[in-house]
Amino acid sequence: MPFRPRYTGLIDKYRDRLPVHDDTRIISLGEGNTPLIRLNNVPAQTGKDVDIYVKYEGLNPTGSFKDRGMTMAVTKAVEEGSRAIICASTGNTSAAAAAYAARAGISAFVLIPDGKIAMGKLAQAMMHGAVVIQIKGNFDAGMQLVKEVGKDAPVTIVNSINPYRLQGQKTAAFEIIEELGRAPDFHCLPVGNAGNITAHWIGYCEYSSASGDHVTEACAFCQGHCRFAGGAVVGNRPKMVGYQAAGSAPFMRGEMVDNPETVATAIRIGHPQSWDQAWKVSEESGGWFDECSDEEILAAQKLLAEREGVFCEPASATSLAGALRDIGNGKIPEGSSVVCTLTGHGLKDPDTAIKQSTTPVMTVEATLESVKSVILDNLA
Ligand code: F0G
Repeated sequence: MPFRPRYTGLIDKYRDRLPVHDDTRIISLGEGNTPLIRLNNVPAQTGKDVDIYVKYEGLNPTGSFKDRGMTMAVTKAVEEGSRAIICASTGNTSAAAAAYAARAGISAFVLIPDGKIAMGKLAQAMMHGAVVIQIKGNFDAGMQLVKEVGKDAPVTIVNSINPYRLQGQKTAAFEIIEELGRAPDFHCLPVGNAGNITAHWIGYCEYSSASGDHVTEACAFCQGHCRFAGGAVVGNRPKMVGYQAAGSAPFMRGEMVDNPETVATAIRIGHPQSWDQAWKVSEESGGWFDECSDEEILAAQKLLAEREGVFCEPASATSLAGALRDIGNGKIPEGSSVVCTLTGHGLKDPDTAIKQSTTPVMTVEATLESVKSVILDNLA
């Protein structure tokens, strides 16, 4: 069999496009390289001729896209001599911070909204030995506190306001282009803090720039951290579409939302940190923002699980829920290729999954006869 080098994570793979040195100690868990799955059954249901792919970021080591950013943020924190990291989180960032801090041998402090994070995420932060601080407030309050604490405490903030986070996350766009051979026509993402939609845009811009397209405008996103800080291009890039949960949709309201609510707790955010950047992404790419109700989000989550065998958490399904609506109404035209990012794994939030499942769990006698009769009654 031909020798294929072991995949060792996205920093190793995209080293020449990331702000690391030859001797930087890389803190990695083998993140990135996630599957881009072409949906087989769902597109037919739309009655339209579209190609829909899902980028299954739930298959990262801690089960969400946050690992892409965290490998960079923790690598740089360690390089800069930091002994502790801190973040506010709706759950996934705290899980990733806890895991990468454990890997690096440094401390992690995570602020989470009391009672409002999914059980799997809390379990992860606890198992990896983070100091878990539940605050009697929401994510936005936690974010404010973290920014204050970060001013004088000896801790590195690893929320997406840390520019290295977006540098790591931009690699998802590289992977998509490499796999499809071009950018998709539309890239749909769930939006909370709006870091990920911004990071993807950085990735698409850089990739087109690297492939020699004409440089026509300044890259306003990378804060000088990308290799192409001088310019980005208009070229082979998708329209970026951001979907929010209706109860937490500041981009739709056009202003911050003080008491965000949604079943998709990962995106229960009313004061997005990357507000200006995300508006710019939308404008530059020719995309848009929209919102989905909790019912639409849960229906899309279930549809993916039942019809495609792909299990994502509720927030992640927002991308598909919105895309299906916009394919239906023609905003995404026939003939388009669409990538929907599935940001986190369904196992993160088993409570919501079980609550909405309509499939009965049957309890029967442990006999051949009772098992056979269930099978006969339920054959499709
Ligand atoms: N999907 C999931 C599963 C998330 O966990 C998040 C953000 C998003 C989407 C939105 O991404 O903030 O870059 O627009 N979760 C953060 C956290 C806030 O703390 O885990 P964004």
